[in-house]
Formats: sequence, C-alpha cells, structure tokens
Amino acid sequence: MSEHKNAANRLAGRRIIVTGAASGIGKATAELFAAEGAIVACLDRDIEAANAVAKSIDGFAFRVDISDEADVASTMSAIERKLERADGLVNAAGIMATGSLLDMPVALWRKIVDVNLVGTYLVTRGSVPLLRRSEGSTVVNIASAQGLLPNAPNHTAYAASKGGVVNLSRALAAELSPQIRVNTVCPGMVDTPMAVGNGGNAANYAMKRVARADEIANAILFLTSHDSSYVTGATLAVDGGRSFH
Ligand SMILES: NC(=O)c1ccc[n+]([C@@H]2O[C@H](COP(=O)([O-])OP(=O)(O)OC[C@H]3O[C@@H](n4cnc5c(N)ncnc54)[C@H](O)[C@@H]3O)[C@@H](O)[C@H]2O)c1
Repeated sequence: MSEHKNAANRLAGRRIIVTGAASGIGKATAELFAAEGAIVACLDRDIEAANAVAKSIDGFAFRVDISDEADVASTMSAIERKLERADGLVNAAGIMATGSLLDMPVALWRKIVDVNLVGTYLVTRGSVPLLRRSEGSTVVNIASAQGLLPNAPNHTAYAASKGGVVNLSRALAAELSPQIRVNTVCPGMVDTPMAVGNGGNAANYAMKRVARADEIANAILFLTSHDSSYVTGATLAVDGGRSFH
C-alpha cells in the first residue's frame, strides 16, 4: 500500500463494508480505506477477485449478489459474526448496459434497476442494524453523472437506476439522520473494466480526460471520514465538469 503516500489514518479502526470491492472503484476504495486504517469487508459476486483484494489489504471477503434479498441477509449475518458492527458502508457494486428503448429486452432493463437501485437499497437496509452500533456512521452510494444529467442516448435503464440512487440517498439521509450520514458520489466516466467498450468521449468533459478510480475513491473517503462530519444528503459530482452539478 505504499502508493497511498498521503494516508493519514483517517479511518483508524473503522469497520467498513464495501460492495463491488473486487474491481474498479470499489477495489480502489477498499485499498485506500485500508491504507487509512480501516478494516474492510469486501463484498462482491466475484468471490475469487474479492478474496484477492481482501488478502492484499488484510480485510475480509464475502460473496453476495446484492440484488438477492436472501443472499444479502445471510451475508449480513456473516459480517456481523466477523466484525460485530459497521462504521461505514460504500455501495459501489453496479452494472451497466446500453440499448435503445425499443431494442433493450425488458428483462435486461429490470436487471439493471434490480442491481443498481434495489441492490443498493437491500444492502443498506441489511447494514443499518450494524451501522447503528457505531457513533457517527456513514453510507456513501455510488450513482453516476447519468443519474444527474442523463444526456447520452440509449441509457434509459442505467439513468433511471442511478437517478433512483440519487433520490434514495436523500430519502435515507432524512430517515437515518442524525446517527447515520448518507451521501452520494456521481462519477463521470472512470477508467475501470465497466467503462471498457462503453464508448464515452473525453472531449465532453471540462477536464478533457476520464477519471482514475483512485480519484473517485478520494471523494468517497472524504464523505466517509470525519472530515465531512456536517455533510449529509449531499450529491457530489466527481465528473471532471461533465454535468456542472
Ligand atoms: N466506470 C465508470 O465509468 C462509472 C461511471 C459512473 C458510475 N459508475 C458506477 O461506479 C460503480 C463501480 O463501477 P466500476 O466502474 O468500478 O465497475 P466494475 O465493473 O469495475 O466493478 C463493479 C463490481 O461490482 C460487482 N457486481 C456487479 N453486480 C453485482 C451484484 N449483483 N452483486 C455483487 N457484486 C456485483 C462486479 O463483480 C464488480 O466487481 C458502479 O455502481 C457504476 O455504475 C462507474
């Protein structure tokens, strides 16, 4: 973890659940959080890759399909047995597929909403009893710039799911305050396996480039650490100026 040169123990001893921790933004977040002193529960449907990440950061891996209610419930029991409480949750697991309104099969449309929106709801619902055992715990949901300004064609399912995550987070912030802070990060295009093959034009970004996963992880760290102690219900665009939110 020597690449995290600015680590300042901002999450010392905190127990954090990260979904999608096997790849991309979730993996970068798990690695950064461990460098900041956290014990990380790495959740993913890809258990082999999650195991590899957990091993590299002295964390714990759990296989889960976040869209499956029973699976989420048994995973939460396993986390409780291992960690007893949670001080933070990062919902980074997600899927993306494009297709025009008429061409995308209804089953795929539903699946995108089921994983991105219902999955975020199920994992948050399952985590709250553990988060309530901690003082000042946090939830950070990863939506998308497509949840703010859905200006790319063929994104109806993804944009609907991510717009749902933005408003779910606000509703959760109102309901879970003051004990649990809930905030949203909306990345633009990020250089991860998900972005490969999904096009995207860096010319549309004020910064004229796509993001690295660690740049998104740094924003998630701010919203998880005590540095953001008075921030809840916020939606932070980390999109190089794509949406100007
Ligand atoms: N990469 C981008 O350009 C971009 C832009 C905006 C938002 N996002 C969002 O950021 C989040 C992370 O994306 P990424 O780019 O790191 O993608 P990624 O594909 O690299 O990683 C996503 C991870 O989520 C896991 N996952 C998917 N479905 C799951 C399920 N049902 N149960 C458990 N795990 C599941 C995958 O196995 C994978 O490890 C997603 O919510 C995505 O929508 C990504």
